[in-house]
This record gives sequence, C-alpha cells and structure tokens, in this order.
Amino acid sequence: MKKSFRFIMTAMLAIAGMTAKADEGMWLPSLISQRIVDMQEKGFRLDAEDLYSVNQASLKDAVVLFGRGCTGELISPEGLLLTNHHCGYGQIQQHSSVEHDYLKDGFWAMSREEELPNKGLSVSFLERMKDVTALVLEGCQAGMSEEDRVEIVKKNSQAIIDEAVKEGKGLRATVEALYYGNQYFLFIYRQYEDVRLVGAPPSSIGKFGGDTDNWMWPRHTGDFSMFRIYADKDNNPAPYSKDNVPYRPKKYFHISTKGVQEGDFTFIYGFPGRTQEYLHSAGVRYIEEISDPHKIHLRTLRLDIMNRHQAESQKVRIQYSSKNANVANAWKKWQGEVKGIKKMKTVQTKQEFEAAFAKWAKGGEFDGVTDRLAAIYAELEPYQFATDYYTETVRTIEIANFAMSIARLFIQEDSLVTFDNAKASELAESFYKDWHLPIDKESFTAVMNEYEKNVPAEFKPAYYKEKLAEYGSVEAWAEDMFTSSLFTDPAKTASLSPADKERVMSDPATVFFNEFLKWYYADVLPVTTRLNQELQLVYRDYMRGQMAYCRTQRIPKAFYPDANLTLRVAYGHIKGYSPADGTYYLPSSTIKGIMEKDNPEIFDYNIPQRLRDIYATKDYGRWTDASGEVPVCFIATNHTTGGNSGSPVINADGDLIGLNFDRVWEGTMSDIVFDPEICRNIALDIRYVLFTIEKIGEADYLFDEMTFTE
Ligand code: ARG
Ligand code: ASP
Repeated sequence: MKKSFRFIMTAMLAIAGMTAKADEGMWLPSLISQRIVDMQEKGFRLDAEDLYSVNQASLKDAVVLFGRGCTGELISPEGLLLTNHHCGYGQIQQHSSVEHDYLKDGFWAMSREEELPNKGLSVSFLERMKDVTALVLEGCQAGMSEEDRVEIVKKNSQAIIDEAVKEGKGLRATVEALYYGNQYFLFIYRQYEDVRLVGAPPSSIGKFGGDTDNWMWPRHTGDFSMFRIYADKDNNPAPYSKDNVPYRPKKYFHISTKGVQEGDFTFIYGFPGRTQEYLHSAGVRYIEEISDPHKIHLRTLRLDIMNRHQAESQKVRIQYSSKNANVANAWKKWQGEVKGIKKMKTVQTKQEFEAAFAKWAKGGEFDGVTDRLAAIYAELEPYQFATDYYTETVRTIEIANFAMSIARLFIQEDSLVTFDNAKASELAESFYKDWHLPIDKESFTAVMNEYEKNVPAEFKPAYYKEKLAEYGSVEAWAEDMFTSSLFTDPAKTASLSPADKERVMSDPATVFFNEFLKWYYADVLPVTTRLNQELQLVYRDYMRGQMAYCRTQRIPKAFYPDANLTLRVAYGHIKGYSPADGTYYLPSSTIKGIMEKDNPEIFDYNIPQRLRDIYATKDYGRWTDASGEVPVCFIATNHTTGGNSGSPVINADGDLIGLNFDRVWEGTMSDIVFDPEICRNIALDIRYVLFTIEKIGEADYLFDEMTFTE
C-alpha cells in the first residue's frame, strides 16, 4: 500500500467519525478524542484522558473482558467485580447440584474463604491499543490476491504480537482488522485466571422473567453476579492458588445511587462482539429471508423437546438450564431481528443506496464494486445455506460431539499419540453430568428430518445419503445410534483403553460426526473460504467507497468500525420508546412491576418469598427512587450488542449507575441497522443490585469495600 494512500485513509476515517451525530456508534477508546466534544455537548463532564489513557489510570482500567464473551467491571480496590447473572451462569451451574442448588437458591460467600474458584474462567484488562496498519500491511501490494494478502497479514501480525507480549507477565495480544482490513489495531491485554465466585441472587431474581421476558421491555430481571479477581503477591496474573491475594486494580468504579432521569447522559464501556452495519443488500436479504427463518425453525424444534423434558424432571431442568438458555437466546433475538429489518425496509433502503452509489462510482476507483458484491453473494448463498444447516443440525447432536472429542484423543496430528485416560475421564465427567439421552435422540430425529427436507441433494454428503437409504428413515437411524453407540453408556466410555482406537473410530456417533466433518472440509469450507476472501477484498473497497461517497455527497452517516469483541465506548441517554402505534414505554421499571408479574404457578415469575415479605412491609432500606419504590431496570439509547452484557453503565461524571444486560426486542436489528427511535439497551439499576445484596443475600458486608458518591 502506498504511503500517500494510507494517509488519505486515516484522514478519511477521522472525518467520517466526526460527522456522525446520532447516538448510534461503538467507538474506539484510543480515538475517543474525536468524539469527546460531541459527548460533552450531550452532557458528559469528563475528558478523553479520563476514559482512555496510556499514561495514567483511566476508566478503561476498571473494565474487563469476562470469560469468552461478556464484560465485567471492578467496583472495589480489592478486585471485586460485577457482571451479569447470565454471564456467570455456567460457573453458578458448575457449583450447583440438587443438594446445593445455587441456581435456584442463590449463593453468597460470607467471607473470602467461601469464594468459589472457577476452572477455565479468566478476565482480561486492556493494557493499551495501537494503530499498526502500516506494520501489518508491510509487503502487501495493490492488486495482489486476497490469499497472499491474508498470508502476509498473518505473518506480520504474529510478529507484532510476539513482540508485544514480551513486555510482562500474563500478557496476551491480538491484532484485529477494522473496516474490512482498511485499518489494523494491536490490543494488548493482561489476563487473570484466578477469578472466584462471590455471589449470585437466586435465579428467580437473576433470571426473573426467564426466556419469556428475555429481550423484552418492560423488564424486571436482577441479572447480576459477583466475582473477585485474585493475583499473586506482586499483583500479577497467576493460576489459582490458596496463596493468591485479591487483585488491586489501577482503577475501580465509584457507585452513584442518585438515580436516573429520562434524558440523562449515559455511556457504556464494554466488549461488543459482532455487528455488520455496512453489509450489501444481498447479505441482509439472506439473513432476513433465509438464514434467520430456517435457524429459528430448527431451534424451535429443539427447544420444544428440551422444555418438555425439563418440565418433567428437576434433574433434567438443572442439566439443561444453561444449554436451553443459550439456544433460546439467539432464537428469540433472530425473530426480533427479522421483524426489525423488515420494518426498517433495510434491503430496499440499501438497494437504493447501492444504485445511487454505483451511479456515482462510474468510471472511478469504486466502479462496479456493488455489482461484484452481488455476484459473490449469489455464488456464496447455497454454500452458506448448507453451512448454516450443518451448524444448526449435525453439529448440535451432543453425543456425536462427545464421541468426536474422545476420538480426537486417538487421532492427533502426531499419530504416535496414545489415548489419555485422565483426559478422557475429564471429558466424560463433564459430558455425562449434563446429558439426557432422550433429549439428544429426539433432537436428532427432529433436526435431521428437517435436514432431509430442506437441504438440496447436491449439498448432502454421500455418506449421509447411503446411510439414510440403508436405515430407511431418520427415526431408524436415531434408534440405532442411540442404542448401539458405546458412548450411550458411561461405563463403556470409562473402560476405554489405548487399544480401543478402532472401536471408537467406527462407533456410529463418531462416524456420523466425522463423515460430515470430512465432507464439510472437502466440499464446503474451501468454497466458502475462497468466496469470503473475495468478499473481504471487495468490501474493503466498498467500505472506503461508502465513506468517500457520503463525504462528497454530504450525506451525514456515522462511520465506526463494526464490533469485533474489542473495547468500545457507546454513548447516549436515558429514553423511552414507542414499540408500536398507540404505545409508549417509560424508560424505567420498579419493584412494583415485579409484584405485578409475580405468580407462584409460573416458573419464570415465581419470586422468592423473602421478596414478597419485603414488598409487603416496604422494608427497602436506602435503595428507593423519588416515588419511594425500589428501581429495577432502565433503558437508554446506547448502541450495544452481544458481549456488552455485564458492561458498566456510567453517568456524566464517570460513576456507575447500572449494569447493561440486554436490548429491547424491537431493536435487535441494531447489529445490522440502528434505529434511534427504537433501539434501546436494557440495564439493571445499580440500586436494585445493592438492594438485592443487602436484603436478599444479606451480604452487605461487601459494601464496606465499595465507594459511594453520595
Ligand atoms: N438476551 C440477553 C443476551 O443476549 C440475555 C440472555 C440470557 N438470558 C436468557 N433468559 N436466556 O445475552
Ligand atoms: N444480552 C447480550 C449479551 O449477553 C447483550 C445484547 O445482545 O444486547 O451480551
């Protein structure tokens, strides 16, 4: 890439960023000085350096990437961390059994000794980030193939990463592409691995409303849990040890209990996962008309099966609680997304934009770009469909996944590898703990029947066609797999030895997984990889083209990089919305609404008796709003997505007022198109968190280490 060109690109990105005025946008913290004037005009009272600084402690030092895809924030000088209940759900479930049901009853450590360690859980602080575009692209030439470019980018990135992590203990680095590879940033994190569970409310508070209220407003979910980060004596990351001590953060949030009002400025610091705001209309159409509807249908089938079995048994209810929530979450979001895209007429709007763009681009650098995108999408679509179907059917069969994980112990690249018993029993223990054969078997039948019906023959593996012909029906196939697979029997799995390679490899569950996998790698992945690389290449131009077009045509449009699980700032204000004609939603909810929903007959709405008693006597302590009720949730215009769960919601003075956990259903298309009229994030009012800690958990000893601003 030529120097002058790179300069133009940087300048263009800066200008593009400055012209955006709406609350839409997820901004890079290190470039926040480009937004700070707008933020201050909207009410923010701090400076860019207070948000992000490499020279002094700043608010970014109080925010962590929690686990694999959530956010958390530090709220005490002793490593106390707040995140969502649904983000700590896996951990809470891990520690739960029928005897100690922390999911159902909640959990509160009453001393440091009682805090529970969590294998595999880590949190990462962003040390710093840096534009490394020039270094990453060194050796890239205009007109080179995308494949070659990918190679160079990979090699250069690795060198940058290796250099970056040399500096200190527990460092981890990544290089991420922004704007389809028009820009690259290095992110250096410090990762802590000793993170212990401190507390969680009962699910009847933390998951109040369950999947019925999920993605909905008005909302009354107390979706929080608390952890503590531990470090070695020098405050450095260290694996779990009794000798570790609470981590001392560079910065932690002070808590404001003053409350919120419609119109108040809010901002959110967090790790949004993935958005696609600059898609071509063909990409949006595929999501709206094909992929979302099919995926929704397949998940409806699986959820019906899980729900039925979970209602029948307490044990199965616990076993599948986390799995069910995961499947249900995207299932419901996709439904809102499709509705939102339709309502916004996004495909049509994009087509009109593309037509105007194409006309403008004639004869210039961006000539033909939108047509090329359309052509690639047309080629990609059937392969993408096969991939989506494969992912939502074959890959969801639990026993097949497990069989393959055991098979992998025999077939690592180094063929001398001998089967490892310890590793196998570890895998087996976690698998069987939460596996219910009838659910898996019925799901197999349900989804594979859809597979048979909807996937065109040329996108089905030969293995599949032969097997189905042999069995005569999906039902007979299921019957055989779930009777004859050795993996249906924990005892057989436990007795496996290095001599059993053949038996494992020829097991029907292993073969099922493996044959589809081989087909996917041979017949699908190479094509989708090639086409996606072509898409990247053209999108890179289209991205710059969209910016140039909007700038020269004076079209005010917010340009910010799509989310990619890197730290971002989103700012906006507290605001209600109108989901439909004749309806207006207020921006906050209170404990009164919990009581209105309370129903001992309905699992999702059956609150703890303790909460009923508190409500009856109005024993609220100091956690009330102006009307004398306990505030529960509020909504605002901050642009967020999956990954922003657990993010701190911060007021104009930089103090913590809430905990982000969701978006309103009517606005879930914000990953693709943001409507400032409808798109709202949902946060837990910090006062409800404090109320629950004190009145339900009786763990208010934790307040001693927090700082309250009033
Ligand atoms: N919808 C929220 C998010 O996407 C919360 C999900 C967890 N809650 C649930 N009921 N499944 O993650
Ligand atoms: N609930 C989501 C999360 O877990 C947040 C969202 O999609 O708005 O990150």
